[in-house]
Amino acid sequence: MKALIKKKIDDFSKELIDIRRYFHQYPELMFEEYETSKKISELLTSWGIENKTISKTGVVGLIRGSRPGKTIAVRADIDALPIDEETELAFSSKNKGRMHACGHDGHIAMGLGTAKILSELKDHFNGNVKFIFQPAEEMPGGAGYLIKEGVLENPKVDAIIGLHIWPDMEKGYIGISKGPLMSAVDKFDVEVIGKGGHGAFPNKAIDPIVVGSQIITALQSIVSREIDPFDCVVLSSCAFNSGNVFNVIPEKANITGTIRYFNKAFSEYIPKRMEEIISGITIGFRCNYKFEYTQLCPVVVNDRAFTNFFENGAKEIMGSEKVIEIERPAMGGEDFSFYLEKVPGTFFFLGTKDEKNGISKSLHHPQYNFSEEILSAGVELFANTVVNYLNKI
Ligand code: NI
Repeated sequence: MKALIKKKIDDFSKELIDIRRYFHQYPELMFEEYETSKKISELLTSWGIENKTISKTGVVGLIRGSRPGKTIAVRADIDALPIDEETELAFSSKNKGRMHACGHDGHIAMGLGTAKILSELKDHFNGNVKFIFQPAEEMPGGAGYLIKEGVLENPKVDAIIGLHIWPDMEKGYIGISKGPLMSAVDKFDVEVIGKGGHGAFPNKAIDPIVVGSQIITALQSIVSREIDPFDCVVLSSCAFNSGNVFNVIPEKANITGTIRYFNKAFSEYIPKRMEEIISGITIGFRCNYKFEYTQLCPVVVNDRAFTNFFENGAKEIMGSEKVIEIERPAMGGEDFSFYLEKVPGTFFFLGTKDEKNGISKSLHHPQYNFSEEILSAGVELFANTVVNYLNKI
């Protein structure tokens, strides 16, 4: 079966690249992926794969195997970023101010390629394979919307697999984790409400900039003084906005930022401590405040048993030395975590670094690109994992 899959991928490899290049030219932002999802649906239909729209711009495809069995899902995110492309590639973005700078064009191509190949092999497996083409991974996390609309039901999904193209890892390697792989993503917003006035008469005003500065500094002590140094936590205040005139003390100051962690307990502890600090400081300085804390994405936690199974299959295809266990999870987030809260599965990194050929830019860089050779490797990993899983007794 492995050889048959390989042969089909080899025959399809040129078209796989063409598909990636097509989507690269027409990037669309979160929940605006209308043309992207239309094209995905057209291709699935042209290959005889049943599919439907979900959450405005998502597409779910389904291949039913020859006999009843379990259902495994393959997920590909489809959204692009608000970036002006600077790659000078022949197939650069034709949508100004939009770019597939996070490799989701590659994810789409790999999802479609896997669907095409498995549609031709459906007599060889039991059960079903569902393809989730998911909008809005970057923000606000399309996965949660799709789950609410039942993407994991009818047929019920028993396991799920997904990947991200990873520029920090050499081409030809994959990174796996049997536990946490990517951090939780939370967001906070603070408004400090003081009293505006003349810059020359600070005694008649209450300066929210001075108070906001104290808050930013004090919040740093949560990570540095309260949390076990062996727990990884980030608290970054990323915007501090207030005032616009040189001689006016403004009324308000706004701070926004992000929190990252792997230990679920921090989702309660950190906002509680933040509010205590903000409240204490603003009382001390005669201000009022508003505080909002939003949990955007939980931690990506891979299922150990499923990942062991995936690892064995991946080593057979790629060779043991090419499958690397990630020692340090990433502080970046990924809404694949919502699926993993519901069903076992694994999310892995597919290495793309290829410095010899000038491919080294980070994700979200305006000159980001990846080696297209990895598209076939991704399809091979997906297709073999699906078939192995569905035919497992
Ligand atoms: Ni991405």
